[in-house]
Amino acid sequence: MTNQEWMNRGQEVLMNNYGRFPIAMVKGKGSYVWDANNKQYLDMVGGIATCSLGHCPEAVLTVLKNQAQTLWHVSNLYWIPPQVELAEKLTASSGLDKAFFCNSGAEANEAAIKLARKYFYRKKQANKTEIIAFEHSFHGRTMGALTATGQTKYHEGFGPLVPGFKYVEYNNLPAVEQAITDNTCAIIVEPIQGEGGIHPADPTFLRSLRRICDQAGILLIFDEVQCGIGRTGTLFAYQQYGVTPHILTLAKGLGSGFPIGAMLATAEVATGFAPGDHAATFGGNPLATAVANQVIDIINQEEFLKGVKEKGQQLREGIQKINEPRIKEIRGRGLLIGVEFTAEVKELINICMKKGLLVVGAGTHVVRFVPPLTINQTEINQALAIFRDALQDWDA
Ligand SMILES: Cc1ncc(COP(=O)(O)O)c(C=O)c1O
Repeated sequence: MTNQEWMNRGQEVLMNNYGRFPIAMVKGKGSYVWDANNKQYLDMVGGIATCSLGHCPEAVLTVLKNQAQTLWHVSNLYWIPPQVELAEKLTASSGLDKAFFCNSGAEANEAAIKLARKYFYRKKQANKTEIIAFEHSFHGRTMGALTATGQTKYHEGFGPLVPGFKYVEYNNLPAVEQAITDNTCAIIVEPIQGEGGIHPADPTFLRSLRRICDQAGILLIFDEVQCGIGRTGTLFAYQQYGVTPHILTLAKGLGSGFPIGAMLATAEVATGFAPGDHAATFGGNPLATAVANQVIDIINQEEFLKGVKEKGQQLREGIQKINEPRIKEIRGRGLLIGVEFTAEVKELINICMKKGLLVVGAGTHVVRFVPPLTINQTEINQALAIFRDALQDWDA
């Protein structure tokens, strides 16, 4: 079967909700993937910042196979040992106390929104339901997470949205202060905005958010679905900012491609949930949590995280050296890098793909590099060479 044939069959039976490239992926190993025509690509997309350990990593494969022969799924009617172990690891390394597991980033944010509201409800402050979110943010596609997403293009046609959300400018502290009322229960923010174009928060902004949350008795929610799990060179991006949230959401890189999401919270805030308040059938099942335990064990090592920082630096400097006048700005941290151009980048991404390099947009003018964290220096140099070559062919 060729790319064309898979595309033709797919168009017959799949919904038209994705703008797909005209290739079908059939195989992956490390930093490379192959399409149905057997063309090889160097993958700087990594399933959109998700395949943190590359494709089919041996160390995870062994765990996955063992768990698959032992126990797949039982539901949360019972205690699940690998789920307990994963919660122990995530709480120990985050400074938070309790975990809830689900299957995706949107679900993790949905859980965070529900926990924030229920926490105040239980404290007899049922008026506190309003959530402050940011312009250009992205939190997912379920109704709560979609409403939290501060981009009207994603809202259009899906109303009525969930009541109780306000949007303010990112990195604008006075705007946040103005938006707070007695009814505010939480602020949800990405320490580095991903889909919105790779915009890191100003360190003082993030720290001030925590301060004003503490002063006003409001919960701070960090959405690290994209920037967490080692992506920026620390296990959590907020660790580079010296500020902790009350609630943290994770997904993407946590399973390195195996679907799993998580919400962590302080012990105090976690009292918002009692049995029956929230649930997910698949959440934290043995298979997903066995995989995520192994992923965390590999990523949460000093040497590994140092490597992410170094490789991020190499990639960033390499892009700078291309000396391309159409580049407006290079942003991001670690291996979460956005390159903003003066023109729309759709065609540039297509040219890269034809030359065997996968990159993804973040908004219309930003090319995003989010490769596996296991990518090596030679592969980064190869990506840079293809990117330079593609820029020469791009007449925007
Ligand atoms: C910051 C952030 N939050 C939430 C989500 C939604 O995650 P998912 O697609 O797993 O629902 C994404 C996805 O790109 C994201 O980048």
